[in-house]
Amino acid sequence: MKGWRDRRTGLLLPLTLLLFWEHNSLALICGRLASTRFQQQNNVSAIMGGNPTNISEFPWHVGIMNHRNLLCGGSILSEWWVLSASHCFDQLNNSNLEVIHGRDDLSTKEMKYHKVDKLILHPKFDDWLLDNDIALLLLKSPLNLSINRIPICTSEISDVQTWKNCWVTGWGITNISGIKTQPTKLQKVKVDLYRWDWCGYVLPLLTKNMLCAGTQNAGMDACQGDSGGALVCNKKRNIATWYQVGIVSWGMGCGKENLPGVYTKVSRYLKWITKQTAKAGKPYVYEQDTACPLVISCWVILFLYFVMFLLTW
Ligand code: ARG
Repeated sequence: MKGWRDRRTGLLLPLTLLLFWEHNSLALICGRLASTRFQQQNNVSAIMGGNPTNISEFPWHVGIMNHRNLLCGGSILSEWWVLSASHCFDQLNNSNLEVIHGRDDLSTKEMKYHKVDKLILHPKFDDWLLDNDIALLLLKSPLNLSINRIPICTSEISDVQTWKNCWVTGWGITNISGIKTQPTKLQKVKVDLYRWDWCGYVLPLLTKNMLCAGTQNAGMDACQGDSGGALVCNKKRNIATWYQVGIVSWGMGCGKENLPGVYTKVSRYLKWITKQTAKAGKPYVYEQDTACPLVISCWVILFLYFVMFLLTW
């Protein structure tokens, strides 16, 4: 009898921790827009070949500034962390880096600048192949999350079939022929994800840490200045939540027929992100995404409560 009671208390502790973890992960709100209007307009042709957009449609998008000049794009992972590309920060230090957020117009006067405390580049970033093109920026003070500043979700799912309705955003150049034009208003473009083997066939030196995305029509792509920005998609089964699948990394020119853009495959770096953010004292916790819908998590919680109830009876 005593042995059973001991085992019972032994079980309670892990169960309580599990419940706490489940609640915490459910409480994380990422990738949800204040309005769902945007999700219905799937057929808008959208950057290069893109359309201007409002920050409320892509509230995770931020600009990374060096000496107050736009350097690259980035995305909000949490109130403390911004995700971007390593190649943006070649030989730069973080003292002049700032992040602008919650705005889609670069010419606006009331721009809010947020200082960067720490820049973490991937230790295996290869500046020739652009392999492991990922970087984390820790902010000096936390962001005030709001409808125009919402963290993007991440997912360990790497299968391109899971995703639909994929978009890239940025203030990069919109035209490479003639005069290079850089927009002041944030641009969006809709792209399709391609299977890795097809990408590897048309693009040389593609590594397994990269994915490619483009459109059938030439002229629609990310381009110079868009690097570091997020490639985001919905799951086929859940169009209410946005996930970051890629980081704008490189391309052979921009918008050329049959030459899709190349992105860092975020799903390969979630463990690295978790480790680095914990090491810096501001852990980023992502919701485990095992193709299992959210409702199941609720059942798991209920079931665990039931087990706890029986054990404490
Ligand atoms: N490397 C570029 C940058 O630093 C991004 C190029 C993306 N090119 C493309 N065709 N998708 O902004």
